[in-house]
Amino acid sequence: VDSEARALRTLLMIPGPTNVSPRVMKALVKPLINHRGPTFHKLYEEIETGLQYLFQTKNPVIPLTCSGTGGMEFAISNVVRPGDKVLVPSFGFFCERVCKAVEAYGGKPIRVEVPLGEAPRLSLVEEALEKEASVRAVVIVCNETSTGVRVPDLKDIAKATREHGSFFIADAISNLGGDPLPVDEWGIDLCVTVTQKCIAAPPGLALVSVGERVLEALKKEAPRTLYFSALEYLRYFQERRETPYTPSIPLFFALNEALKGIMEEGLEARFRRHRECALAFYEGLEKMGIKPFPKTEDFRSNTVIAARKPESIDMAKLRSLMETNYGIVIASGLGQLRDSIFRIGSMGIVSKTIVRRTLEALKGSLASLGYGG
Ligand SMILES: Cc1ncc(COP(=O)(O)O)c(C=O)c1O
Repeated sequence: VDSEARALRTLLMIPGPTNVSPRVMKALVKPLINHRGPTFHKLYEEIETGLQYLFQTKNPVIPLTCSGTGGMEFAISNVVRPGDKVLVPSFGFFCERVCKAVEAYGGKPIRVEVPLGEAPRLSLVEEALEKEASVRAVVIVCNETSTGVRVPDLKDIAKATREHGSFFIADAISNLGGDPLPVDEWGIDLCVTVTQKCIAAPPGLALVSVGERVLEALKKEAPRTLYFSALEYLRYFQERRETPYTPSIPLFFALNEALKGIMEEGLEARFRRHRECALAFYEGLEKMGIKPFPKTEDFRSNTVIAARKPESIDMAKLRSLMETNYGIVIASGLGQLRDSIFRIGSMGIVSKTIVRRTLEALKGSLASLGYGG
């Protein structure tokens, strides 16, 4: 009973999966339906309306039954042909994963290195595009979850990419729904996110918007992928309101409920709430003498809070104390930053109360470990 009670009180403050409201969790246990029947057709239509609202696009947004990496593989496999050059500003763990996906489809990633804690600036991308002839695509991780860094120049980088004649692919996995990202206005050709972060639904679906330029190009080419063929998903949606392959029906129910909640709240209010919670986190951390990891304020993420762990503190002990004594789960760093920073997800249904509880737990746990701030 103790552990069950504790589990109920636990707040999942990692950078995804995030906390999910009971309303969305309840949708998961609805009786299954035929994915080739009229109830599903209506469900998919409702989801599509919600997704177009969330992505701020008139173009199709495809729900794929896979995690975020699958969503990125969808984007890359549809665009990258063998030998294609793909520009990838590299400033963290998930940028490196993009490079691996490009290589897996025979493309050549052109890495432009940016120090950890910083984001690529417009000038860096412009210079790289000038140097390299015929770049097929530029891929930007909009919010590097491993360093808590957002890309402030995203809109201008997307514009420069289009002017160069390249496709613009956005990994918006850890910020879409929490940070402004108007897909059509900014001219993003393929924008990828997932259910388990700012949308606040369980993990298991990736969501990808597909712009007209990509569809036009695909119509002239032989498909390079079966499961991820954008044209197939589109044909099935347009002709039948179905997916080509069996979708995760419970997750479709949950996503639909989460999207309804997002439409009720409104995007502007949702972005404001995320920003205010992030600011409250940064302010609270600085009051404790803890330094956010991003180099400057404009690089600080509105959804993933990364901060330097005080050197004298043991990461495993800190995380374990927070979980056992306060029911708060936070994340360590990733890759080379594993032991030097900790990360807090500030996404989805995050609120000022949740921020306060998390900061109090951090302060109390640090104090137990002898840190005075
Ligand atoms: C920016 C970014 N890209 C890609 C991924 C990979 O997503 P998944 O673990 O759902 O495959 C993540 C996961 O945290 C992420 O934050």
